[in-house]
Amino acid sequence: MDGQYLSHSTSYAFGSEEWPEFYDLWVESLFGPGPSEDASVFRSALERYAAGHNSGQPINVVDIGTGTGRVIKDLWQEPGGALENVAFWGLDNAQAMLDRAKSTFDALEASRRTDPAHHGQSSSLVRLPPTWIQAPAADFASSLPNLAGNADLIVFAVGGVGHLTADDEVERFLEQVRRALRPPGSYEPARAIISVLHEMIPEKNPDLAVEREQSNPEHSSDNVTDKPDSIIPSRDHLGITYVKLPTVSRWSSHDVRTDSFSITIIKDTEAGRYQEGEVLKKKEMAWSLRVFDEKAWNDAVKQAGLRIEEVKEGEIQRWYFLVPSGD
Ligand SMILES: C[S@@+](CC[C@H](N)C(=O)[O-])C[C@H]1O[C@@H](n2cnc3c(N)ncnc32)[C@H](O)[C@@H]1O
Repeated sequence: MDGQYLSHSTSYAFGSEEWPEFYDLWVESLFGPGPSEDASVFRSALERYAAGHNSGQPINVVDIGTGTGRVIKDLWQEPGGALENVAFWGLDNAQAMLDRAKSTFDALEASRRTDPAHHGQSSSLVRLPPTWIQAPAADFASSLPNLAGNADLIVFAVGGVGHLTADDEVERFLEQVRRALRPPGSYEPARAIISVLHEMIPEKNPDLAVEREQSNPEHSSDNVTDKPDSIIPSRDHLGITYVKLPTVSRWSSHDVRTDSFSITIIKDTEAGRYQEGEVLKKKEMAWSLRVFDEKAWNDAVKQAGLRIEEVKEGEIQRWYFLVPSGD
C-alpha cells in the first residue's frame, strides 16, 4: 500500500492538480534555478556506467519519484551525444506531477531543437523520449515487467524514500530495486542511488528530537496564521497567483511527521495585488515523511539482497549507492 494515498487520499499534495506548477516555482524560489547539488552525482554515476557498458543494449535509467522530471531534464542535457543509448524512465505515484514532467520536458526539448546553439551537437541524434509512468515505489518492478532485470541506474532523489511511510513500504521498495537491477555481469554493476534528507536523519538534525519530544497535541506546532509564507505568480497562467499558508507539522506516530498547509489560487485584479483578487480555489494539502532509521535501513538493504557500495554526503542530503550483493 502507498503510504501517502493511504494517509491523505485526495489531499495528498503531489497528487493534486493545483500543486505541480507551484512546486516547481516554490523549489526555484527556495533553492534557485539549479543545477541542484545532485546533478553531478547522478551524471558521473551514469557516465561511469556508460563507459563500462558495451553490450549494445540501451542503458535504462529509472528515476523513482520523478516529480516534474527535474533529474531526467538535467541528465538529458548532455552535449556530446555520449548518452544517445540511454532510455529514461520517469516514475511517480502522482499523475499530476507526471503530466507536468511530460509537458515541460516536451517544451524544453522543442526549444532545444530550434536553438542554433545546439546545432551540430546532439540535435541531429534521434533519442528515445523518456517514458513517464505512474507506478508506486513499492511495486514498480512488478508493475513494469520490462524493467525487471534491465535497470542499469535507479535514482530516488531529494529524500523521496522518506515519503515511504506505510508499514514495510521501504522494505518492499528495496526488494523492487533488487528485482529491477540488471544482474551482475562483466561490466560495471548496475546501481541504485537513494537520497535521504539530512532534515530526516536524527544525527544530522538535532531539532528532530525536540520536535518528536513535543509530539503530543498540546505541543504541536499549530502556530496557525493567515499570513502567507509564499506568494508566487503563475508563469503558465497569466494573472493567476498561488498563495501558500505556513506548514503545520504534526507527529502522527513517533517517527512519521505530517506536514499540512493550504494553497489558494487567486485571479489578480492587478499585478501584485492578490489580496483584492478573486479566490478561484483553496485546497488543503498534506504529505507525510518518515524519520530515517539507519539500523533498520542497513538491515532492509541486506535483507533485499543489496549491499551499500558507497555513502556520499551533500549539503542537504546523503546518498546511498546500492548494488546487488551477489549472494
Ligand atoms: C520531493 S519530490 C521530488 C521530485 C523530483 N524527484 C525532484 O527532484 O524534483 C518527491 C516525489 O516523490 C513522489 N513520491 C512520493 N511517494 C511515492 C511513491 N510511493 N511512489 C512513487 N513516487 C512517490 C512524489 O509524488 C514526488 O513527486
